[in-house]
This record gives sequence, structure tokens and C-alpha cells, in this order.
Amino acid sequence: MTVETGRLDATLLDVSIAHKITHWHECGGNGRCTTCRVRVLDGASHLSPPTRREAELAQARGWDPTIRLACQTSASGDVTLERIVLSEATASQLRTETVGREAGAERRLAILFCDMRDFTALADSNSAFDVVHILNRFFDALGDPILLNGGIISHYVGDQICGLFGLDDADPARICSGAIRAAFGMVEAIDRLNEDLARSFGIRIRIGIGVHFGNAIVGDVGHPTLRRFTVIGDDVNTASRIESMTKELGATILVSRAVAERLAEGSLSVTATKMTRLRGKRNDIELLAVDGFADPSPFTLAQRSVGRLLDHPSTFAAQFYANMFAMRPELEGLFVNGTGAQGAMLSHMLRSVVSGLETRKHVTIGLQTMGRKHVGYGVELDYYRTFRAAMLKTISDVMGAGLTREIEESWSVTLDVILGLMKEGAGAEFRRN
Ligand code: HEM
Ligand code: FES
Repeated sequence: MTVETGRLDATLLDVSIAHKITHWHECGGNGRCTTCRVRVLDGASHLSPPTRREAELAQARGWDPTIRLACQTSASGDVTLERIVLSEATASQLRTETVGREAGAERRLAILFCDMRDFTALADSNSAFDVVHILNRFFDALGDPILLNGGIISHYVGDQICGLFGLDDADPARICSGAIRAAFGMVEAIDRLNEDLARSFGIRIRIGIGVHFGNAIVGDVGHPTLRRFTVIGDDVNTASRIESMTKELGATILVSRAVAERLAEGSLSVTATKMTRLRGKRNDIELLAVDGFADPSPFTLAQRSVGRLLDHPSTFAAQFYANMFAMRPELEGLFVNGTGAQGAMLSHMLRSVVSGLETRKHVTIGLQTMGRKHVGYGVELDYYRTFRAAMLKTISDVMGAGLTREIEESWSVTLDVILGLMKEGAGAEFRRN
């Protein structure tokens, strides 16, 4: 699409936002997250030179000069660009950039394996077409919790999926809690998928998940024409073996002591522990069967319901805007371009913010910036009350009988934090004016 702007000081990201082009900007345009990157196809000489922050990132990550950060670049003439990050999956794969590709690197990672129990029975009793369809639905459901909790999908082996956590992080507690939140998220996602599969195919999928924390070698491996990001090492095998033990021990999620140790004492709800010798290993290892956090934070609880809430993002958004405009009709006038594309951005933003709140990596600055920008959209501080009320009503409308007090309270706290950060940013802008 072709767009024109008369503002020479506008960044490429500002131009996208002004023209309703869904352009990722996790850190709110502060040169930290790199999700706003674009590839320059033509007109590079019309672009402003890289800011210091952009130059540092480009050097550290080995970008070729055609990649630019949209939030750090402005144009003084015609340019042709392509967005690079279009989905949660590409955003997450960018994390592999922090690894020296050719040389390989040793990393401390949380490694998660998940597989489908009784896959052979399922494959035998369904047509090939249905098996592929079910497998894709399965991987689709399982992938999101990995991506949303700071992980990447490393690879698939048949009906097994492997997630890695910690490629762009060095804090073991954060890495391990991300992996565990992903595991709980996967169980929730499978429960939701099963409701559907029971109706359409009369089947239920059961899964087993193993999580371990340790060292792994990561890098691109393979024939020069087909190099793939790969993870290898003893601890990777251990994670896979832990996953195989879930069946034997009758547990859905098993984590090693190495993972549990990285979290605050007593933070996991442990249903059983077992010292065991994994196949092919010389030493015993302690495994813990876990079924949740002992005292989950409101963000974790909100994250658990976000999948169900945003199963149909456009329905959710339409309902939300209808509720908000019913409560305060004058707000409709602010959405000069309608709420169609806006709904997709809002749903996406909610999903990634709710997951990010636990670690607050780019989320704090991203939300403050968004609050500041909302002043420019005509949003007054007082409107935030209406947003909150309309969002809680929409959550209740969409969840129906499934809305528990716990979920409602978790959203109430989560919205306070999101809106609080946006108001902080907006307040700074009001003071500036
Ligand atoms: C307090 C009530 C709010 C109002 C009245 C409001 C209204 C608006 C308006 C008028 C726009 C510009 C639309 C256009 O140019 O057509 C916008 C953009 C946007 N809003 Fe809101 N908004 C509110 C709160 C929020 C919250 C709480 C979030 C997310 C958690 C959010 C997420 C977004 C996003 C992602 C955009 C796209 C542009 C950008 O990223 O800067 N908004 N909003
Ligand atoms: S680096 Fe541009 S939005 Fe984060």
C-alpha cells in the first residue's frame, strides 16, 4: 500500500500507526525490542542515519544494512519497505538472533518437551487428512503459550514439540518461571482444544510435558543449503526423557529439581516427587509433578483466561467497543477511522501485554509510551475508568458462566496495572503541555 505523510519528523512507525498498518512495536517505539524492524526495498538514501541505539543493536545482531528499526528512522523522500514481524512466531524467532549463528554458543536454558499421548491410536483410527488437521490444531494450541512466555519453538519431532526459554535472558528465575507458565498454558490450551475435538471427532488429546534447566549448545547446524537452528546437549536429552516419564508416573507436567530450585521456595503446587534414574543416565534425578503455582499472581491468572477470551479476537473487540460506547457515547468520535483494524491491535496488545507483565521486560516502557501517545488521540485521563468498566463487562459477557471470581479479580488487578502505566505516561504528557 502507498501512504503519504507531510511530517518529515515522523518515524516510519508513526507513519504506519497513523495509517492503521498493523506494525509491531512491543517497546512502544523506544528502540529496545526490535519488533518494529523493516526491510528497505528501495529508497534507502532517503532514510535518516541510524540512531546510536539502532547502530548498537544492528552491530550486536549482525543485521545487514537493509534492516532498519522503524521507530528510529524517518524518511525525507520515497521509500519502499516491508514489515518483518507479522506474528507472535516471527517476533519470538528473533530471539535466536542473540546467538552467534555460525559459531554456536553454550547457553543456560529451560528446555520444555511436550508430546501427545496415544498418538499412534489416534493416527490409526482417523483418516490421514484428519490426522494432519488435528496435529496442526495441536501444534497451534501448544505454540502460543511458549511464544507468549519468552520462549521459542525450537523444533518438532513427530507429535512432540520442543520449546527453549532463556535465549535472550540470563535470569534463571525468570527463565524457569516462563517455561512453567508455558507448561500450564499448554494444559489450558489443550483443554480448550479438547472441547472442540470431542464435538468434531469424538476424541480427547492427552499430553505430557517435561521441563528441565541446564546447559545446551545452540547454533545453526546442517548442510550449507539447509542450516537449521538446533539445540543439543545432555540436558536437552534429559528434558526429553523427563517428558517420557510423565506417562509412567501418571503426571501431566513433570519438572526437574533444577527447575524448581530456581523459583522461590514453595511457589509451585507439587502433587508428587520421585527420585528416579532416567534411561541412559548414570545418576538419579528428582522429578516433581506440578499442577499450578501455589499462589498464582493475578497476571498468571489473567493470562490463563486470555486464550479463551481472545479465541475470536474480532468478536471480543467488537463487543468491547460496543460496551464502551454504550457507557460513554462521546468516545466513539475519537475513532476517526472506525474500530475495525483497531480491534485487532487492541486484542494483540492485550495478549502480549498480559503475558509480558510478569517479567515487565519491555512492557513498562511500552505502556507508558502508549499512554503518552493516547493523549494525542484525544484520550483524557478520565476515560480510563470507562475503558476499565467496559473491559470487565466484556470479559464477563464473553466468559459467561465460565467467569469465576478468581478470574474477575485477576483481570481487575491486571487492568489496574496496565492502565496505571498508561496513565503514568499520559500524565507526563499532560504536565509537559
Ligand atoms: C482509555 C480509553 C482508551 C481510548 C478512548 C482509546 C482510544 C484510542 C484511539 C482513538 C486510538 C487511535 C485510533 C485511530 O487513530 O483511529 C487508539 C489507538 C490504540 N489504542 Fe487505544 N484507547 C484507550 C485505551 C487503550 C488501552 C488500555 C490499550 C491497550 C492496552 C489501547 C491500545 C491501543 C493501540 C494498540 C492503538 C494503536 C496505535 C498505537 O499503538 O499507538 N488503547 N486508542
Ligand atoms: S525497537 Fe522499535 S518499537 Fe521497539
